[in-house]
Amino acid sequence: MNTEVSRRAFMATLAGAAAVATALPQRSWAAAPMLYGPSASVVKLNANENPYGPSPKALEAIAKSAAEGGAYYPGKVNRALAEMIAERHGLTADHVVLTSGSMECLFAAAAAFTKYGRIVAPGLTFGPHLTVAERMGGEVLRVPLTGEMDQDLERMAAVTDSMTSLVYVCNPNNPTGLTVEGGRMRAFCEAVSARATVMVDEAYNELTDNPDATSMVDLVRRGENVIITRTFSKLYGLAGLRVGYALAPPHLAEMLKRHAMTSPSVVGAAAALASYNDEAFLAYSKSKIVEGRQMVEALFDRLEIPHVPSQTNFVYADIGRDADAFQAKMRAENVLIRGVYEPYKTWSRVSMGKLEDLERFVQTFERVYTLG
Ligand SMILES: Cc1ncc(COP(=O)(O)O)c(C=O)c1O
Repeated sequence: MNTEVSRRAFMATLAGAAAVATALPQRSWAAAPMLYGPSASVVKLNANENPYGPSPKALEAIAKSAAEGGAYYPGKVNRALAEMIAERHGLTADHVVLTSGSMECLFAAAAAFTKYGRIVAPGLTFGPHLTVAERMGGEVLRVPLTGEMDQDLERMAAVTDSMTSLVYVCNPNNPTGLTVEGGRMRAFCEAVSARATVMVDEAYNELTDNPDATSMVDLVRRGENVIITRTFSKLYGLAGLRVGYALAPPHLAEMLKRHAMTSPSVVGAAAALASYNDEAFLAYSKSKIVEGRQMVEALFDRLEIPHVPSQTNFVYADIGRDADAFQAKMRAENVLIRGVYEPYKTWSRVSMGKLEDLERFVQTFERVYTLG
């Protein structure tokens, strides 16, 4: 092709592209409504978020870090965050794995361990990483809950054999909200970690009545075969910023790092740094969550609806009817709750929102439930 022809062809392509661009509707995506959270008319109680966050200090850190660091990869701030977390737990930074939400730590563990054997997990629990392990060709043995909706630790210990690579427990558990008392969980971890690595998902630890006694971090300090995962998505109110972490002996932490692809962003890490020791905000948030939980529990008690005692920002209740159909009726009233988690067809989970949202939930729930 001579130069003049190729130049004409190039110009024609450009003109074509410009015509397509002007034909497209010019929308301002950044200014579009409802990109960042529920609209005002919706009561969103379906994802265990904490609407009291981010704290004012976190908001300040988000603006500053975006302006000064948004153009750069987040190595420095993530190192600072890992050190701060390590210091709090009496560990060193090589015990800390930071990821974009704790889900990525859970996934990294599932991806790493599924190659070496079966994963044992509760029959009802937080599950995306377990599903991914299965999709990768791994095997997950789900041990049904007890009749009291508790994780069946005795049975889980009994099925952990030489074919097992990882045992996953969740304390408090999601969606039940039930907490295994620290001493019982510690005895379980001590016994089972001799046979397989135990991963304790402590996403809701900070919301429990006694976080230190409920946590298994002392086992990580002792170098036991135990991984703990935590998140800034719950009490810290940073779910949208995607910051989570694992605490593990250095060789396990290294294994997780080799299977994780993400880290917190600059703004996420900055918000986490600003929130971690903000005791006033954390105490305020927790008191509001507990107050909301008491409102919801009082409603269920009044309607004689059985519910699991919760130390989290959600309550799991047996509403005695198809939970998906009930969820749809509530959605029609702009109140979002959870439907069925198999195999519990009549159980529904409601997360804590702001108190005014929970007042709307209480009124709507009572009306819809009483209509049948
Ligand atoms: C038990 C549990 N673990 C982990 C997560 C993941 O949280 P994130 O990825 O936001 O840290 C959740 C989220 O709801 C959860 O309930």
